[in-house]
Amino acid sequence: MNVLVVGGGGREHALCWTFARAAHVYCAPGNAGTAEIATNLAIPVTDHDGLLDAVRTHDIDLTVVGPEAPLAAGLADRLRAAGRYVFGPSSAAARIEASKAFAKRLMRDAGVPTAAAETFTDADRAAAYIAAHAEPLVVKASGLTAGKGAIVCGTRSEAVDAARAMFGGRFGAAGTEVVVEQFLDGEELSVLALTDGERVMILPPSQDHKRIGEGDTGPNTGGMGAYTPVSIATPSLIARVEREILLPTLRALADQGCRYRGVLYAGLMISPCGDPLVIEFNCRFGDPETQVILPVAGCELLDELWRIAADDGWIPDLVSVPANRAAVTTVLAAAGYPDAPQRGQAITIADRLPADTVLFHAGTRRDSDGTLRSVGGRVLCATGFGPDVSTAAAASRLLAEQVTFDGKQYRRDIGWREIARARAS
Ligand code: AMP
Ligand code: GLY
Repeated sequence: MNVLVVGGGGREHALCWTFARAAHVYCAPGNAGTAEIATNLAIPVTDHDGLLDAVRTHDIDLTVVGPEAPLAAGLADRLRAAGRYVFGPSSAAARIEASKAFAKRLMRDAGVPTAAAETFTDADRAAAYIAAHAEPLVVKASGLTAGKGAIVCGTRSEAVDAARAMFGGRFGAAGTEVVVEQFLDGEELSVLALTDGERVMILPPSQDHKRIGEGDTGPNTGGMGAYTPVSIATPSLIARVEREILLPTLRALADQGCRYRGVLYAGLMISPCGDPLVIEFNCRFGDPETQVILPVAGCELLDELWRIAADDGWIPDLVSVPANRAAVTTVLAAAGYPDAPQRGQAITIADRLPADTVLFHAGTRRDSDGTLRSVGGRVLCATGFGPDVSTAAAASRLLAEQVTFDGKQYRRDIGWREIARARAS
């Protein structure tokens, strides 16, 4: 089978790494890591004509789209219209991520638990709403902002400033609609489900670390690390997520004529009393969650994706993860990330890497002389495995130390909540 993975980050390297066991893999545009296990094609994710040409030229049987932007821009529709199998939702269904205003409306109409919110198209109305609601509040640009468009505001005046900045163009067109919502207390959880629009196959739940700094401090990023398993994700909680969140959302999308086929990522807040609420939906695999989920999920992922894309009466399997199998990934970011990442730093990686680890590349490329260089904010993801999160975290950190580049920054506390829970029990 020939598979094309669209994208070039750590998530796409993990997808290629998973598929390479069973298929010939192409990656567009890929990175220096995917180049070692797949054939990179120098086609940007925005070039839909070029991608369709490549699918024809290389006889691609299945295209798997990594990032949200090409999905929102209709890449899956385009490939399907050309009679090609693609794993990823239509542009209409991808609005679940591409428009927070749409997602909020859908959740409200479907009775899916989420923070109380209102959507605005002008600053004065947003300010009036903010004045009438309790602090803290969260102000969000409705459109796509690479995970940076949600601002948690401790005070009303910060919230008004954030809304005004968004209407003033801080996030460009993504901020022409602004969602103001109630702050939710609790612990975050990422639940990703493969779906044909009707049934779901839930992948191992994981937890991301959005803040740049240790102890979850500083500005939000695309994600600085992730781990699985998460002990708060009990079977009964996950059954509730399926029943109260995933299935009603898929039904509501189908009722609107946009059946969802792909992976639906529910970014949840688990309230202090254990109720799951939606913070946001994503229309794709998470990054860096994928770099821990795929290596432990004991399913033939490619078969599942293929059957969802082929729409041949897919029956989801149960995903079994061996007990005592944990994974932790630590993101190695460039100096200046998330605001102004430095690019072009030479990277060196030790010849012998620690046992029970995999180094996934994200923003890397190789010069013609063989030098490995950073080209993006998140540069590499150091994944470690072990019988528990604490051991996997130690392996991940050990691997992170084997990589050197100027200004390398990473968190040494990925998995800290789980490790603290394990110590307390
Ligand atoms: P989003 O772009 O909606 O995923 O938000 C990014 C991050 O901001 C989330 O992962 C949370 O850490 C935080 N956040 C967003 N909305 C809320 C909320 N209503 N309450 C608390 N934290 C939030
Ligand atoms: N890890 C957050 C995301 O993929 O959006």
